Amino acid sequence: MAKYRIALMPGDGIGNDVMDAAKIVLDKIALDAEYVPADIGWEFWRTEGDPLPQRTLDTLKTCNCALFAAITSKPKEEAEAELVPELQGKGLVYRSPIVRLRQTFDLYTNLRPCKAFEGNPLNFRDDIDMVVFRENTQGLYAGVEFHPLPEDLRAKLEELSPRMAAFKGVPSDEIALSTRIFTREGCRRIIRAAFEYAKQFGYPTVTLVEKPNVIRETSGMMVREARQIAQEYPGIELWETNVDAQVMWMVKNPQDYGVMVASNMFGDIISDLAAQLVGGLGFAASGNIGDDFAVFEPTHGSAPKYAGKYVVNPTAMLLAVKLMLDWLGETETATALQNAIAEVIKEGKVRTYDMGGDSGTLDMARAVAEKL
Ligand code: NAI
Ligand code: MG
Repeated sequence: MAKYRIALMPGDGIGNDVMDAAKIVLDKIALDAEYVPADIGWEFWRTEGDPLPQRTLDTLKTCNCALFAAITSKPKEEAEAELVPELQGKGLVYRSPIVRLRQTFDLYTNLRPCKAFEGNPLNFRDDIDMVVFRENTQGLYAGVEFHPLPEDLRAKLEELSPRMAAFKGVPSDEIALSTRIFTREGCRRIIRAAFEYAKQFGYPTVTLVEKPNVIRETSGMMVREARQIAQEYPGIELWETNVDAQVMWMVKNPQDYGVMVASNMFGDIISDLAAQLVGGLGFAASGNIGDDFAVFEPTHGSAPKYAGKYVVNPTAMLLAVKLMLDWLGETETATALQNAIAEVIKEGKVRTYDMGGDSGTLDMARAVAEKL
């Protein structure tokens, strides 16, 4: 039996292109692993009414982790209209399979390293090396939302919070409420993950990106827990910043920041900013990590106009493989892969269109594989 069982979910569009690139590199690495294909994406929504069929969840439960590439998703009405005729009018509702994966496997850490590779013409600066830890399951994206505001909830809020007076006289069907729920354990585990990473990879600081002066209770809880956990890591300094100021600093002095940690929405925002500073979607990989399962992915989508043309940049996908290798404990192989990617970018002979070249997706993967 192989040491690892790894699910491969190419999904839709360029997901297939970049997964083929990953396979070239995985072949070369020759990890002691069994790769199991698994279905996810638009085709399964259209024909089965579920973009993440139960058989895929069953397969994932037998694997150590998964590599996922990209899927197509569309708004509710459009999604319904594309179902095969037999499935129309049955009240099926499209739900994001990625969000479902995060919830089903409690993948509470979203890890997004953003490192500038030397020679990448798309770098904002060449000395950027940021790593964002975003809480992946709670906060504003947990889906506890109301519209119209239910009357009993409204009455309770008016009873408990004097600030509700500001909305007096507004009809309940003209009020929308999205909650921001944090738990102490939810704060602690993402903050701890950030500090552990800083310790493992030698980053001197962890920057907490919140807004405690305004969002007192939730951001306040993050700050309290961070200060407490920081005491367990004497060599690592905790920097506390407000999210609005932080996005300014990330553009002004991005080289000053290493590990950053934030709740779900703030983490989402700063991760996209960080990614753009080092070349954008073609370079941004992330890990969705829980205590005993993880899904690694490039953060780009299915880019339908490039699907099957094998022209997009496979770097984000290959960096997702690198994150997976780190997580599996195959750190030497992970570092070798990162170095091979760095060399290919630095040489500049094989470049996809986004970097100003005309090489294909698989050319770049082969160039990386050759360096390994
Ligand atoms: P997208 O990320 O698919 O593509 C936007 C543009 O970014 C592309 O047209 C292309 O110019 C560029 N791009 C993306 N990946 C690239 C790569 N590897 N190399 C070079 N250039 C690259 O985002 P878009 O167009 O907003 O969404 C397309 C579909 O993907 C939609 O159905 C959307 O819902 C879905 N999506 C899925 C995601 C996922 O699977 N995690 C994430 C984002 C969008
Ligand atoms: Mg995002």
